[in-house]
Amino acid sequence: MTIHIGAETGQIAETVLLPGDPYRAKWAAETFLTEVQQVNNVRGMLGFTGFWNGHRVTIQGSGMGMPSLSIYVNELIKDYGAKTLIRIGSCGGMQENVGVRDIILAMTASTLSTPSRGIFKELNFAPSADYGLLHKAFHAAQAKGTPTHVGGIYSSDVFYDERPDLNEQMVRHGILGVEMEAAELYILAARHKCRALAVLTVSDHLLTGEALPSDQRESSFGDMVEIALEAAFA
Ligand code: HPA
Repeated sequence: MTIHIGAETGQIAETVLLPGDPYRAKWAAETFLTEVQQVNNVRGMLGFTGFWNGHRVTIQGSGMGMPSLSIYVNELIKDYGAKTLIRIGSCGGMQENVGVRDIILAMTASTLSTPSRGIFKELNFAPSADYGLLHKAFHAAQAKGTPTHVGGIYSSDVFYDERPDLNEQMVRHGILGVEMEAAELYILAARHKCRALAVLTVSDHLLTGEALPSDQRESSFGDMVEIALEAAFA
């Protein structure tokens, strides 16, 4: 057990999928895994371990934002030996050619601040995805026929942003979408020699104001789970 995860040693797999929403962790485990065991319910941040095509995998909620994700990922890596960590979540689209429902594979994650920011001092570290995971996820996503974009995203600390100028600069510099977790995931993976990737569905669009209706979010989420599993194990 750790401060935030109630699993016993050995109950967490080396490969962990990380949706922000704990109820999505439950839905994904029940939908895609066999022999599912609930391994965490501390603070309601549900986690499950099971098997996909014979491969052991954990699906653990990360919460929203980098401080929350950082707690779970630190404990998953340092205390439970997680080696491959894939975020599955939503993001806001930031480019005209990126549509709602499209998939974004985050090659890099720009950020103003993360829980790790202080250790870099004046250096601007470039958090980036594991290329092997990215490569496999791209082919898995393409096979589904969903428009898929690979490039930089922006990991923000604020959802209700009072600094729209920052979003404008991200758009101007070709950033594909905005979410709130990937940069810290990539930094922690780099620090601890793990593999990481963020697979994202565009749930809303900052330029057009379009938003994915809630009844369509589940199927998009299912696609992301499958893409993440294929990237990890295919
Ligand atoms: N901003 C930040 N995070 C998000 C957004 C957004 O517009 N959409 C989905 N996650």
